Amino acid sequence: ALRRAGNIHWQHLDVDKAARARSKRQTPRCVWFTGVSGAGKSAIANLVDKKLHALGHHAFVLDGDNVRHGLNRDLGFTDEDRVENQRRVAEVAKLMTDAGLIVLVSFISPFRAERKAARELFAPGEFIEVFVDTPLDVAERRDVKGLYAKARRGELPNFTGIDSPYQAPEHAELVLDTATASAQALAEQVVACLLEGDYEI
Ligand code: PPS
Repeated sequence: ALRRAGNIHWQHLDVDKAARARSKRQTPRCVWFTGVSGAGKSAIANLVDKKLHALGHHAFVLDGDNVRHGLNRDLGFTDEDRVENQRRVAEVAKLMTDAGLIVLVSFISPFRAERKAARELFAPGEFIEVFVDTPLDVAERRDVKGLYAKARRGELPNFTGIDSPYQAPEHAELVLDTATASAQALAEQVVACLLEGDYEI
Protein backbone atom coordinates (compact mmCIF):
# COMPACT_ATOMS: atom_id res chain seq x y z
CA ALA A 1 0.00 0.00 0.00
CA LEU A 2 1.18 3.49 -0.75
CA ARG A 3 1.55 5.89 2.12
CA ARG A 4 0.49 9.38 1.20
CA ALA A 5 2.00 12.43 2.80
CA GLY A 6 -0.41 15.17 3.80
CA ASN A 7 -0.11 18.91 3.24
CA ILE A 8 1.26 18.54 -0.26
CA HIS A 9 0.25 21.23 -2.74
CA TRP A 10 0.87 21.29 -6.47
CA GLN A 11 3.55 23.88 -7.29
CA HIS A 12 2.77 25.77 -10.48
CA LEU A 13 5.74 26.35 -12.80
CA ASP A 14 5.69 29.16 -15.36
CA VAL A 15 7.62 27.34 -18.10
CA ASP A 16 5.10 24.74 -19.18
CA LYS A 17 5.25 21.67 -21.35
CA ALA A 18 4.19 23.55 -24.48
CA ALA A 19 6.97 26.12 -23.99
CA ARG A 20 9.58 23.41 -23.50
CA ALA A 21 8.28 21.51 -26.53
CA ARG A 22 8.54 24.69 -28.65
CA SER A 23 12.15 25.25 -27.67
CA LYS A 24 12.94 21.62 -28.55
CA ARG A 25 10.98 21.92 -31.82
CA GLN A 26 9.23 18.61 -31.30
CA THR A 27 6.00 17.27 -29.90
CA PRO A 28 6.71 15.33 -26.71
CA ARG A 29 5.43 11.76 -26.69
CA CYS A 30 5.49 8.65 -24.61
CA VAL A 31 6.02 5.67 -26.90
CA TRP A 32 5.30 2.61 -24.77
CA PHE A 33 6.71 -0.69 -26.08
CA THR A 34 5.21 -3.83 -24.55
CA GLY A 35 5.89 -7.49 -25.27
CA VAL A 36 7.24 -10.67 -23.69
CA SER A 37 10.89 -11.09 -22.68
CA GLY A 38 13.03 -11.42 -25.79
CA ALA A 39 10.32 -10.00 -28.06
CA GLY A 40 12.73 -7.37 -29.39
CA LYS A 41 11.45 -4.31 -27.48
CA SER A 42 14.86 -2.99 -26.50
CA ALA A 43 16.43 -3.58 -29.91
CA ILE A 44 13.61 -1.72 -31.66
CA ALA A 45 13.47 1.11 -29.09
CA ASN A 46 17.24 1.54 -29.44
CA LEU A 47 16.95 1.81 -33.23
CA VAL A 48 14.06 4.29 -32.98
CA ASP A 49 16.16 6.36 -30.56
CA LYS A 50 19.09 6.35 -32.99
CA LYS A 51 16.90 7.35 -35.92
CA LEU A 52 15.22 10.17 -34.00
CA HIS A 53 18.61 11.36 -32.77
CA ALA A 54 19.95 11.40 -36.33
CA LEU A 55 16.94 13.53 -37.31
CA GLY A 56 17.82 16.04 -34.59
CA HIS A 57 15.12 15.01 -32.13
CA HIS A 58 15.66 14.58 -28.41
CA ALA A 59 14.46 11.15 -27.38
CA PHE A 60 15.36 8.95 -24.42
CA VAL A 61 14.98 5.22 -23.77
CA LEU A 62 13.70 3.96 -20.42
CA ASP A 63 14.51 0.26 -20.46
CA GLY A 64 13.27 -2.23 -17.86
CA ASP A 65 16.60 -3.99 -17.45
CA ASN A 66 18.38 -0.64 -16.93
CA VAL A 67 15.83 1.07 -14.68
CA ARG A 68 15.84 -2.06 -12.51
CA HIS A 69 19.56 -1.44 -11.87
CA GLY A 70 18.82 1.89 -10.18
CA LEU A 71 15.46 3.49 -9.46
CA ASN A 72 13.69 0.12 -9.29
CA ARG A 73 16.47 -2.00 -7.80
CA ASP A 74 14.21 -2.78 -4.84
CA LEU A 75 11.64 -4.52 -7.07
CA GLY A 76 11.42 -8.13 -8.20
CA PHE A 77 8.98 -9.94 -10.46
CA THR A 78 5.95 -10.67 -8.30
CA ASP A 79 2.70 -9.19 -9.64
CA GLU A 80 2.84 -6.54 -6.95
CA ASP A 81 6.40 -5.52 -7.81
CA ARG A 82 5.65 -5.40 -11.53
CA VAL A 83 2.68 -3.11 -10.83
CA GLU A 84 4.95 -0.76 -8.84
CA ASN A 85 7.61 -1.00 -11.56
CA GLN A 86 5.07 0.20 -14.14
CA ARG A 87 3.72 2.92 -11.91
CA ARG A 88 7.15 4.41 -11.31
CA VAL A 89 8.29 4.24 -14.90
CA ALA A 90 5.02 5.77 -16.11
CA GLU A 91 5.53 8.69 -13.72
CA VAL A 92 9.14 9.10 -14.87
CA ALA A 93 8.02 8.98 -18.50
CA LYS A 94 5.47 11.67 -17.71
CA LEU A 95 8.13 13.89 -16.13
CA MET A 96 10.35 13.42 -19.16
CA THR A 97 7.48 14.17 -21.53
CA ASP A 98 6.76 17.32 -19.53
CA ALA A 99 10.44 18.16 -20.00
CA GLY A 100 9.84 18.07 -23.77
CA LEU A 101 11.31 14.69 -24.67
CA ILE A 102 10.13 11.82 -26.82
CA VAL A 103 10.31 9.00 -24.29
CA LEU A 104 10.68 5.42 -25.47
CA VAL A 105 9.57 3.09 -22.70
CA SER A 106 10.67 -0.52 -23.11
CA PHE A 107 9.25 -2.75 -20.37
CA ILE A 108 7.44 -6.07 -20.59
CA SER A 109 4.55 -4.28 -18.85
CA PRO A 110 2.45 -7.44 -18.83
CA PHE A 111 -0.74 -6.08 -17.27
CA ARG A 112 -3.44 -4.30 -19.25
CA ALA A 113 -4.63 -2.34 -16.23
CA GLU A 114 -1.18 -0.87 -15.58
CA ARG A 115 -0.70 0.10 -19.23
CA LYS A 116 -4.11 1.78 -19.11
CA ALA A 117 -3.13 3.59 -15.91
CA ALA A 118 0.07 4.77 -17.63
CA ARG A 119 -1.92 5.99 -20.65
CA GLU A 120 -4.23 7.96 -18.37
CA LEU A 121 -1.31 10.08 -17.13
CA PHE A 122 -0.94 11.56 -20.61
CA ALA A 123 -2.91 13.94 -22.80
CA PRO A 124 -4.94 12.40 -25.63
CA GLY A 125 -2.65 11.37 -28.49
CA GLU A 126 0.48 11.76 -26.39
CA PHE A 127 0.74 8.09 -25.39
CA ILE A 128 1.46 5.61 -28.16
CA GLU A 129 1.27 1.95 -27.22
CA VAL A 130 3.41 -0.28 -29.42
CA PHE A 131 2.84 -4.02 -29.14
CA VAL A 132 6.01 -5.89 -30.06
CA ASP A 133 4.11 -8.95 -31.14
CA THR A 134 6.47 -11.89 -30.85
CA PRO A 135 4.71 -15.15 -29.97
CA LEU A 136 5.99 -16.72 -26.78
CA ASP A 137 7.27 -19.87 -28.54
CA VAL A 138 9.34 -17.71 -30.92
CA ALA A 139 10.84 -15.68 -28.05
CA GLU A 140 11.53 -18.90 -26.18
CA ARG A 141 13.23 -20.50 -29.18
CA ARG A 142 15.49 -17.44 -29.56
CA ASP A 143 16.17 -17.29 -25.80
CA VAL A 144 18.93 -14.70 -26.28
CA LYS A 145 19.62 -14.38 -22.54
CA GLY A 146 19.00 -18.04 -21.65
CA LEU A 147 16.23 -16.97 -19.26
CA TYR A 148 13.48 -19.19 -20.70
CA ALA A 149 15.70 -22.26 -20.23
CA LYS A 150 16.31 -21.22 -16.62
CA ALA A 151 12.59 -20.61 -16.07
CA ARG A 152 11.75 -24.05 -17.52
CA ARG A 153 14.29 -25.60 -15.13
CA GLY A 154 12.44 -23.88 -12.29
CA GLU A 155 15.36 -21.57 -11.50
CA LEU A 156 13.49 -18.33 -12.33
CA PRO A 157 10.11 -18.13 -10.62
CA ASN A 158 7.39 -15.76 -11.94
CA PHE A 159 8.78 -15.72 -15.46
CA THR A 160 6.53 -13.96 -17.96
CA GLY A 161 4.73 -16.42 -20.21
CA ILE A 162 5.81 -19.42 -18.12
CA ASP A 163 4.32 -18.95 -14.65
CA SER A 164 3.44 -15.25 -14.79
CA PRO A 165 0.85 -13.86 -17.23
CA TYR A 166 1.29 -11.61 -20.26
CA GLN A 167 -1.88 -9.79 -21.29
CA ALA A 168 -1.51 -8.73 -24.94
CA PRO A 169 -2.83 -5.28 -25.83
CA GLU A 170 -6.20 -5.09 -27.57
CA HIS A 171 -6.05 -1.49 -28.73
CA ALA A 172 -2.37 -0.71 -29.31
CA GLU A 173 -1.72 2.19 -31.68
CA LEU A 174 0.89 0.06 -33.45
CA VAL A 175 1.40 -3.70 -33.69
CA LEU A 176 4.85 -4.81 -34.83
CA ASP A 177 5.06 -8.28 -36.34
CA THR A 178 8.62 -9.37 -35.62
CA ALA A 179 8.16 -12.65 -37.50
CA THR A 180 7.91 -10.95 -40.90
CA ALA A 181 10.05 -7.81 -40.63
CA SER A 182 13.52 -6.90 -39.39
CA ALA A 183 14.10 -4.73 -36.31
CA GLN A 184 15.35 -2.00 -38.69
CA ALA A 185 12.16 -2.11 -40.76
CA LEU A 186 9.98 -2.09 -37.64
CA ALA A 187 11.90 0.85 -36.14
CA GLU A 188 11.38 2.68 -39.42
CA GLN A 189 7.66 1.97 -39.09
CA VAL A 190 7.59 3.50 -35.60
CA VAL A 191 9.48 6.60 -36.74
CA ALA A 192 7.21 6.96 -39.77
CA CYS A 193 4.19 6.75 -37.49
CA LEU A 194 5.68 9.48 -35.30
CA LEU A 195 6.67 11.71 -38.22
CA GLU A 196 3.85 11.28 -40.68
CA GLY A 197 0.91 9.75 -38.90
CA ASP A 198 -1.45 11.47 -36.60
CA TYR A 199 1.54 12.05 -34.38
CA GLU A 200 3.51 14.67 -36.25
CA ILE A 201 6.60 15.61 -34.25
S1 PPS B 1 8.01 -5.91 -16.07
O1 PPS B 1 7.16 -7.11 -16.19
O2 PPS B 1 7.58 -4.84 -16.99
O3 PPS B 1 8.04 -5.45 -14.68
O4 PPS B 1 9.46 -6.37 -16.49
P1 PPS B 1 10.71 -5.45 -16.91
O5 PPS B 1 10.95 -4.39 -15.89
O6 PPS B 1 10.57 -5.04 -18.32
O7 PPS B 1 11.94 -6.45 -16.77
C1 PPS B 1 12.04 -7.51 -17.66
C2 PPS B 1 13.51 -7.96 -17.81
O8 PPS B 1 13.96 -8.58 -16.64
C3 PPS B 1 14.59 -9.84 -16.91
N1 PPS B 1 13.88 -10.81 -16.07
C4 PPS B 1 12.60 -11.25 -16.17
N2 PPS B 1 11.62 -11.01 -17.07
C5 PPS B 1 10.42 -11.59 -16.85
N3 PPS B 1 10.12 -12.40 -15.82
C6 PPS B 1 11.08 -12.65 -14.90
N4 PPS B 1 10.79 -13.46 -13.84
C7 PPS B 1 12.37 -12.08 -15.05
N5 PPS B 1 13.52 -12.13 -14.33
C8 PPS B 1 14.42 -11.37 -14.95
C9 PPS B 1 14.54 -10.05 -18.39
O9 PPS B 1 15.86 -9.83 -18.86
C10 PPS B 1 13.62 -8.96 -18.94
O10 PPS B 1 14.19 -8.28 -20.04
P2 PPS B 1 13.58 -8.33 -21.53
O11 PPS B 1 14.35 -7.25 -22.25
O12 PPS B 1 12.12 -8.05 -21.49
O13 PPS B 1 13.93 -9.69 -22.05
